[in-house]
Amino acid sequence: MSGRSESIWNLSKKWFVAHRYKKDPKFTSKELEFIGDYLDEMEQVLFFQMAPVDQRHAFEVAREVATDPRIQTADERILLVKAGLLHDIGKVKGDFTITQRVLVKLMKKFLPGTYRKLASQYQKPGTLTHAVFVQAAHPKRGAYMLQAFGASELVVELVKNHHETPKSRFARLLREADNLH
Ligand SMILES: [Fe+2]
Ligand SMILES: [Fe+2]
Repeated sequence: MSGRSESIWNLSKKWFVAHRYKKDPKFTSKELEFIGDYLDEMEQVLFFQMAPVDQRHAFEVAREVATDPRIQTADERILLVKAGLLHDIGKVKGDFTITQRVLVKLMKKFLPGTYRKLASQYQKPGTLTHAVFVQAAHPKRGAYMLQAFGASELVVELVKNHHETPKSRFARLLREADNLH
């Protein structure tokens, strides 16, 4: 979340969404078709290993960019939708409880020093330190996963930098859609 601050209103909205999709992203068959249209088999493995709520979030981000009128070509759409679906794959099912999701973001906003300290320490899953570590590391972690799976360099770069200040038009479009969901 570097470079942007999360409002309390946004956090409460995310809290409700996290409860709604806690166990199931509730994809319709049309939505699953959309995912299948844009991700190959290996990319789908990475997508579906996220927690249901992150799958839902990534889908909404991808759907947002898919209809962005600023996209100029079909290739641009494919690239951005892919990046939207995959941008948070560095968060894997089991990395956060719902409470930890909110605490991590509150800590980042109100206790940035503590956040930075915990972010550099790996701890076993289930702990708040682990949740902070993953929140901070997920862009790079996701990029490494994609690299290992042979994804295109453009997608890897968009995923790796999705919490940095956008340096390209694509990165800006992804960031805006990510902020909306
Ligand atoms: Fe992210
Ligand atoms: Fe995201």
